[in-house]
Amino acid sequence: MKDSSFNGQVGIVTGAAGGIGRAIAQAMAAAGARVVVSDVRPEEGKEVVKQIQSSGGEAHFVACDVSNPDEVGHLIQATLEHFGRLDILVNNAGISGGSSLAHELEVETWDRVMAVNLRGPFLCAKHAIPHLTAGSAIVNVASTYGLIGAPLAAAYCASKAGVVNLTRQLAVDYGSRGIRVNAICPGYVDTDMGGHRASLPAAQAAAANARREANAALQPIGRQAQALEIARVAVFLASEESSFMTGSIVTVDGGCTATFNYGK
Ligand SMILES: NC(=O)c1ccc[n+]([C@@H]2O[C@H](COP(=O)([O-])OP(=O)(O)OC[C@H]3O[C@@H](n4cnc5c(N)ncnc54)[C@H](O)[C@@H]3O)[C@@H](O)[C@H]2O)c1
Repeated sequence: MKDSSFNGQVGIVTGAAGGIGRAIAQAMAAAGARVVVSDVRPEEGKEVVKQIQSSGGEAHFVACDVSNPDEVGHLIQATLEHFGRLDILVNNAGISGGSSLAHELEVETWDRVMAVNLRGPFLCAKHAIPHLTAGSAIVNVASTYGLIGAPLAAAYCASKAGVVNLTRQLAVDYGSRGIRVNAICPGYVDTDMGGHRASLPAAQAAAANARREANAALQPIGRQAQALEIARVAVFLASEESSFMTGSIVTVDGGCTATFNYGK
């Protein structure tokens, strides 16, 4: 049964064709929001829309590469045309950029990671904010990698650190207009980030999964998160339940950043 936390409010979730974004879109719809599912993968995105609709929710797909200003402009306009208003923006789309030492990292890879992970949230906020009224919320999906250094992830760590402080900065400028801006920093989440593992041969995919499981096992909670465990926090930050929170950086990481990782 649908609850009514959002009372017909309209939210955009970027990168919602899979993983955490799909879980956020589904959870927001289940909580009564009308959701624009946006992604660069139309087939999978439209499938998410169908799932939401078959559960009694309202959703609409709009294709958008968040690094492209024209496409972001179109995303906002298409949302307003379809649903007539915009109240919530969830900046979730992100890419990992692979694993390499900084001196071996291709400049093109650095630029692409920055374009999707940092320029994307800026562009979406820039185009959305003129249409947001008091009571609106922006939720940015950053990462624990934006709070600490992590191996072989220079561009990803730098981009997510940028998202963390962009969150605080936007909270400062728009608090007086009643627009709240918060970020979630997930730890290891069981998704197929970037389609990377799905595209690997079976043995390598199994090894990649085993590495993530082993890293997650070292955290206090001792496992990876399920996407829904991140989505529930996103719904909270997007809703009036978090009405006095803005500029907050919320770790949802199984305790990963609470401790030095000594292993067990
Ligand atoms: N999985 C994790 O362990 C983890 C941990 C911390 C933070 N995060 C962050 O959570 C967010 C979601 O990641 P996920 O694990 O669900 O990964 P995912 O790869 O399953 O989902 C990311 C989605 O973003 C879309 N996307 C990629 N580039 C895009 C672009 N330019 N424009 C629009 N959409 C684009 C992809 O098509 C995909 O559907 C990302 O910002 C990621 O950095 C993930």
